[in-house]
Amino acid sequence: MIGFINKKIQKIDVMNEARIIGIISGKGGVGKTTLTVNLGMALKNLGNDVTLIDADFSASNLGVYLGQYDHPVKIQKVLRGEARVDQAIFRHPTGVKAVTSSKSINQAEPSTAMLRDILETASKGEDFVLVDCPPGIGTTVEGIIEACDELIVVTMPTQTASVNAAQIMQECRMLEKPVLGTVLNKVEDNPEKELVNREVEMMTDSNLLATIPYDQKMKESLFENTALVTYDPLSPASIAIKQLAANLSGEEYERPKLLKAKRKMNRIKSILN
Ligand SMILES: Nc1ncnc2c1ncn2[C@@H]1O[C@H](COP(=O)(O)OP(=O)(O)O)[C@@H](O)[C@H]1O
Ligand SMILES: [Mg+2]
Repeated sequence: MIGFINKKIQKIDVMNEARIIGIISGKGGVGKTTLTVNLGMALKNLGNDVTLIDADFSASNLGVYLGQYDHPVKIQKVLRGEARVDQAIFRHPTGVKAVTSSKSINQAEPSTAMLRDILETASKGEDFVLVDCPPGIGTTVEGIIEACDELIVVTMPTQTASVNAAQIMQECRMLEKPVLGTVLNKVEDNPEKELVNREVEMMTDSNLLATIPYDQKMKESLFENTALVTYDPLSPASIAIKQLAANLSGEEYERPKLLKAKRKMNRIKSILN
Protein backbone atom coordinates (compact mmCIF):
# COMPACT_ATOMS: atom_id res chain seq x y z
CA MET A 1 0.00 0.00 0.00
CA ILE A 2 1.18 3.50 -0.72
CA GLY A 3 1.69 4.98 2.69
CA PHE A 4 3.05 8.10 4.26
CA ILE A 5 5.82 7.57 6.69
CA ASN A 6 5.50 10.12 9.43
CA LYS A 7 8.85 9.88 11.13
CA LYS A 8 10.96 12.87 12.09
CA ILE A 9 14.24 12.53 10.26
CA GLN A 10 16.86 13.62 12.73
CA LYS A 11 19.66 15.89 11.60
CA ILE A 12 22.99 14.16 11.99
CA ASP A 13 25.20 16.50 13.98
CA VAL A 14 27.73 18.13 11.68
CA MET A 15 29.48 21.47 11.81
CA ASN A 16 28.29 22.68 8.38
CA GLU A 17 25.78 25.43 8.08
CA ALA A 18 23.65 23.36 5.72
CA ARG A 19 22.87 19.70 5.62
CA ILE A 20 24.70 18.33 2.59
CA ILE A 21 22.54 15.46 1.36
CA GLY A 22 23.49 13.27 -1.60
CA ILE A 23 20.61 11.78 -3.60
CA ILE A 24 21.99 8.45 -4.82
CA SER A 25 20.84 5.22 -6.45
CA GLY A 26 22.22 1.92 -7.60
CA LYS A 27 20.26 2.06 -10.84
CA GLY A 28 19.67 4.90 -13.30
CA GLY A 29 16.24 6.29 -14.15
CA VAL A 30 14.74 5.73 -10.70
CA GLY A 31 14.00 9.45 -10.17
CA LYS A 32 17.02 11.04 -8.45
CA THR A 33 17.01 14.25 -10.45
CA THR A 34 13.22 14.49 -10.23
CA LEU A 35 13.42 14.08 -6.44
CA THR A 36 16.36 16.51 -6.09
CA VAL A 37 14.44 19.28 -7.86
CA ASN A 38 11.03 18.65 -6.30
CA LEU A 39 12.38 18.07 -2.79
CA GLY A 40 14.51 21.21 -3.14
CA MET A 41 11.46 23.27 -4.09
CA ALA A 42 9.33 21.73 -1.36
CA LEU A 43 12.04 22.55 1.21
CA LYS A 44 12.23 26.09 -0.18
CA ASN A 45 8.45 26.47 0.12
CA LEU A 46 8.83 25.60 3.82
CA GLY A 47 11.17 28.59 4.22
CA ASN A 48 14.53 26.85 3.86
CA ASP A 49 17.45 28.18 1.83
CA VAL A 50 18.33 25.47 -0.65
CA THR A 51 21.12 24.90 -3.17
CA LEU A 52 21.00 22.06 -5.72
CA ILE A 53 24.23 20.69 -7.15
CA ASP A 54 24.44 18.57 -10.31
CA ALA A 55 27.12 15.96 -9.66
CA ASP A 56 25.91 13.63 -12.42
CA PHE A 57 28.70 14.57 -14.79
CA SER A 58 27.71 12.22 -17.63
CA ALA A 59 23.90 12.48 -17.64
CA SER A 60 23.71 16.05 -16.41
CA ASN A 61 20.10 17.17 -16.60
CA LEU A 62 19.42 19.12 -13.40
CA GLY A 63 19.15 22.31 -15.48
CA VAL A 64 16.58 20.66 -17.77
CA TYR A 65 14.50 19.53 -14.78
CA LEU A 66 14.73 23.07 -13.41
CA GLY A 67 12.87 24.16 -16.55
CA GLN A 68 15.76 24.51 -19.04
CA TYR A 69 17.72 26.75 -16.72
CA ASP A 70 21.41 26.90 -17.18
CA HIS A 71 24.46 28.95 -16.41
CA PRO A 72 27.69 29.48 -18.35
CA VAL A 73 29.89 28.42 -15.42
CA LYS A 74 29.46 24.71 -14.86
CA ILE A 75 30.62 22.52 -11.95
CA GLN A 76 33.42 21.00 -14.08
CA LYS A 77 35.10 24.42 -14.30
CA VAL A 78 34.99 24.76 -10.51
CA LEU A 79 36.30 21.20 -10.03
CA ARG A 80 39.20 22.03 -12.35
CA GLY A 81 39.96 25.09 -10.21
CA GLU A 82 39.20 27.47 -13.11
CA ALA A 83 36.26 29.20 -11.42
CA ARG A 84 35.00 29.86 -7.91
CA VAL A 85 31.86 28.11 -6.73
CA ASP A 86 30.05 31.43 -6.22
CA GLN A 87 30.57 32.11 -9.94
CA ALA A 88 28.77 28.85 -10.77
CA ILE A 89 25.79 29.32 -8.43
CA PHE A 90 22.69 30.87 -9.99
CA ARG A 91 19.30 31.70 -8.57
CA HIS A 92 16.23 30.05 -10.09
CA PRO A 93 12.98 32.12 -10.15
CA THR A 94 11.64 29.94 -7.31
CA GLY A 95 14.49 31.18 -5.10
CA VAL A 96 16.24 27.80 -5.11
CA LYS A 97 19.92 28.13 -6.05
CA ALA A 98 21.71 25.69 -8.32
CA VAL A 99 24.98 24.66 -9.90
CA THR A 100 24.63 22.76 -13.18
CA SER A 101 26.94 20.36 -14.95
CA SER A 102 28.23 20.39 -18.52
CA LYS A 103 26.49 18.27 -21.16
CA SER A 104 29.54 18.27 -23.41
CA ILE A 105 30.71 14.75 -24.22
CA ASN A 106 34.22 16.15 -24.60
CA GLN A 107 34.47 16.95 -20.91
CA ALA A 108 36.60 14.28 -19.25
CA GLU A 109 35.21 12.75 -16.06
CA PRO A 110 36.29 15.38 -13.54
CA SER A 111 38.22 14.64 -10.39
CA THR A 112 36.01 14.86 -7.31
CA ALA A 113 38.95 15.88 -5.07
CA MET A 114 37.64 19.46 -4.84
CA LEU A 115 33.97 18.50 -4.39
CA ARG A 116 33.95 18.61 -0.58
CA ASP A 117 35.35 22.17 -0.64
CA ILE A 118 32.77 23.16 -3.23
CA LEU A 119 29.89 21.73 -1.18
CA GLU A 120 31.13 23.37 2.01
CA THR A 121 31.38 26.75 0.31
CA ALA A 122 27.94 26.30 -1.26
CA SER A 123 26.51 25.37 2.16
CA LYS A 124 27.38 28.71 3.78
CA GLY A 125 24.19 30.45 4.83
CA GLU A 126 22.03 27.64 3.43
CA ASP A 127 19.80 25.13 5.18
CA PHE A 128 20.07 22.33 2.63
CA VAL A 129 22.48 21.42 -0.15
CA LEU A 130 21.07 18.58 -2.26
CA VAL A 131 23.55 16.77 -4.50
CA ASP A 132 22.12 15.02 -7.57
CA CYS A 133 24.42 12.02 -8.04
CA PRO A 134 25.16 9.61 -10.87
CA PRO A 135 23.89 6.03 -10.48
CA GLY A 136 25.94 2.96 -9.65
CA ILE A 137 29.21 2.34 -7.96
CA GLY A 138 32.67 3.43 -9.06
CA THR A 139 35.43 5.81 -8.08
CA THR A 140 33.51 8.94 -9.13
CA VAL A 141 30.40 7.91 -7.17
CA GLU A 142 32.59 6.98 -4.21
CA GLY A 143 34.19 10.42 -4.31
CA ILE A 144 30.77 12.07 -4.40
CA ILE A 145 29.46 9.97 -1.50
CA GLU A 146 32.57 10.88 0.51
CA ALA A 147 31.91 14.58 -0.13
CA CYS A 148 28.33 14.46 1.26
CA ASP A 149 27.38 14.37 4.94
CA GLU A 150 24.28 12.21 4.55
CA LEU A 151 22.68 10.18 1.79
CA ILE A 152 19.19 9.35 0.58
CA VAL A 153 18.93 6.24 -1.60
CA VAL A 154 16.25 6.35 -4.31
CA THR A 155 14.86 3.12 -5.67
CA MET A 156 11.81 1.63 -7.40
CA PRO A 157 9.70 -1.38 -6.39
CA THR A 158 11.49 -3.78 -8.76
CA GLN A 159 13.93 -6.60 -7.97
CA THR A 160 16.76 -5.07 -10.04
CA ALA A 161 16.43 -1.58 -8.58
CA SER A 162 16.31 -2.95 -5.04
CA VAL A 163 19.33 -5.24 -5.54
CA ASN A 164 21.27 -2.24 -6.89
CA ALA A 165 19.99 -0.08 -4.01
CA ALA A 166 21.26 -2.70 -1.55
CA GLN A 167 24.70 -2.54 -3.23
CA ILE A 168 24.93 1.25 -2.95
CA MET A 169 23.74 1.02 0.65
CA GLN A 170 26.58 -1.42 1.35
CA GLU A 171 29.01 0.98 -0.32
CA CYS A 172 27.85 3.79 2.01
CA ARG A 173 28.36 1.54 5.02
CA MET A 174 31.88 0.70 3.85
CA LEU A 175 32.59 4.42 3.48
CA GLU A 176 30.99 4.96 6.91
CA LYS A 177 28.55 7.50 5.51
CA PRO A 178 25.17 7.85 7.21
CA VAL A 179 22.18 6.93 5.05
CA LEU A 180 18.99 8.70 6.12
CA GLY A 181 16.97 5.97 4.41
CA THR A 182 15.37 4.90 1.17
CA VAL A 183 12.82 6.68 -1.00
CA LEU A 184 10.70 4.22 -2.93
CA ASN A 185 9.62 5.99 -6.11
CA LYS A 186 7.18 5.21 -8.94
CA VAL A 187 5.02 2.98 -6.75
CA GLU A 188 1.95 1.72 -8.62
CA ASP A 189 0.34 0.02 -5.64
CA ASN A 190 0.28 -3.34 -7.37
CA PRO A 191 1.58 -5.86 -4.80
CA GLU A 192 1.30 -8.74 -7.29
CA LYS A 193 3.72 -7.16 -9.73
CA GLU A 194 5.98 -5.04 -7.53
CA LEU A 195 7.86 -5.30 -4.28
CA VAL A 196 6.01 -3.97 -1.26
CA ASN A 197 7.50 -1.52 1.25
CA ARG A 198 8.55 -4.20 3.73
CA GLU A 199 10.32 -6.23 1.04
CA VAL A 200 12.30 -3.18 -0.10
CA GLU A 201 13.21 -2.38 3.51
CA MET A 202 14.40 -5.94 4.02
CA MET A 203 16.38 -6.08 0.75
CA THR A 204 18.08 -2.76 1.35
CA ASP A 205 18.30 -3.20 5.14
CA SER A 206 17.12 0.38 5.62
CA ASN A 207 14.09 2.46 6.59
CA LEU A 208 11.73 3.85 4.01
CA LEU A 209 11.66 7.64 4.27
CA ALA A 210 8.87 8.00 1.74
CA THR A 211 6.92 6.11 -0.88
CA ILE A 212 6.21 8.23 -3.93
CA PRO A 213 3.44 7.03 -6.25
CA TYR A 214 3.93 6.68 -9.99
CA ASP A 215 2.39 9.92 -11.21
CA GLN A 216 1.42 10.59 -14.84
CA LYS A 217 1.71 14.30 -14.10
CA MET A 218 5.50 13.94 -13.63
CA LYS A 219 6.10 13.73 -17.40
CA GLU A 220 3.60 16.52 -18.04
CA SER A 221 5.30 18.81 -15.51
CA LEU A 222 8.69 18.17 -17.14
CA PHE A 223 7.18 19.07 -20.52
CA GLU A 224 5.80 22.26 -18.97
CA ASN A 225 9.25 23.11 -17.51
CA THR A 226 7.79 23.29 -14.01
CA ALA A 227 8.57 21.05 -11.04
CA LEU A 228 5.61 18.85 -10.09
CA VAL A 229 5.28 20.36 -6.59
CA THR A 230 4.56 23.69 -8.30
CA TYR A 231 2.78 22.36 -11.40
CA ASP A 232 0.34 20.21 -9.44
CA PRO A 233 0.84 20.68 -5.69
CA LEU A 234 -2.06 18.38 -4.82
CA SER A 235 -1.00 15.43 -6.98
CA PRO A 236 -0.20 12.24 -5.02
CA ALA A 237 3.56 12.43 -5.76
CA SER A 238 3.68 16.12 -4.77
CA ILE A 239 2.01 15.33 -1.44
CA ALA A 240 4.52 12.52 -0.72
CA ILE A 241 7.48 14.76 -1.60
CA LYS A 242 6.12 17.65 0.48
CA GLN A 243 5.70 15.29 3.41
CA LEU A 244 9.32 14.15 3.05
CA ALA A 245 10.44 17.81 2.92
CA ALA A 246 8.47 18.57 6.10
CA ASN A 247 10.02 15.57 7.87
CA LEU A 248 13.52 16.62 6.77
CA SER A 249 13.05 20.12 8.08
CA GLY A 250 11.60 18.80 11.32
CA GLU A 251 8.06 20.00 10.83
CA GLU A 252 4.75 18.27 11.21
CA TYR A 253 3.13 17.71 7.84
CA GLU A 254 -0.52 18.56 7.57
CA ARG A 255 -2.21 16.79 4.70
CA PRO A 256 -4.37 19.28 2.76
CA LYS A 257 -8.03 18.97 3.70
CA LEU A 258 -10.67 17.89 1.18
CA LEU A 259 -7.90 16.57 -1.08
CA LYS A 260 -10.16 14.45 -3.28
CA ALA A 261 -12.64 17.28 -3.82
CA LYS A 262 -9.86 19.76 -4.63
CA ARG A 263 -8.27 17.35 -7.14
CA LYS A 264 -11.69 16.84 -8.77
CA MET A 265 -12.20 20.61 -9.04
CA ASN A 266 -8.74 20.98 -10.64
CA ARG A 267 -9.57 18.24 -13.17
CA ILE A 268 -12.83 19.99 -14.07
CA LYS A 269 -11.04 23.34 -14.40
CA SER A 270 -8.38 21.84 -16.68
CA ILE A 271 -11.10 20.29 -18.90
CA LEU A 272 -12.90 23.66 -19.11
CA ASN A 273 -9.70 25.56 -19.99
N1 LIG B 1 7.01 9.39 -9.24
C1 LIG B 1 7.15 9.37 -10.56
N2 LIG B 1 6.09 9.07 -11.35
C2 LIG B 1 6.21 9.00 -12.69
N3 LIG B 1 7.36 9.24 -13.36
C3 LIG B 1 8.44 9.56 -12.64
C4 LIG B 1 8.41 9.65 -11.21
N4 LIG B 1 9.65 10.00 -10.77
C5 LIG B 1 10.42 10.14 -11.88
N5 LIG B 1 9.71 9.87 -13.00
C6 LIG B 1 10.18 9.89 -14.40
O1 LIG B 1 11.22 8.92 -14.52
C7 LIG B 1 12.19 9.34 -15.47
C8 LIG B 1 13.58 9.26 -14.84
O2 LIG B 1 13.66 10.20 -13.78
P1 LIG B 1 15.02 10.89 -13.40
O3 LIG B 1 14.75 11.81 -12.26
O4 LIG B 1 15.69 11.49 -14.60
O5 LIG B 1 15.88 9.63 -12.89
P2 LIG B 1 17.42 9.55 -12.49
O6 LIG B 1 17.90 10.94 -12.18
O7 LIG B 1 17.47 8.65 -11.31
O8 LIG B 1 18.12 8.97 -13.68
C9 LIG B 1 11.78 10.76 -15.90
O9 LIG B 1 11.11 10.68 -17.14
C10 LIG B 1 10.84 11.22 -14.79
O10 LIG B 1 9.87 12.13 -15.27
MG1 LIG C 1 19.49 12.07 -13.02
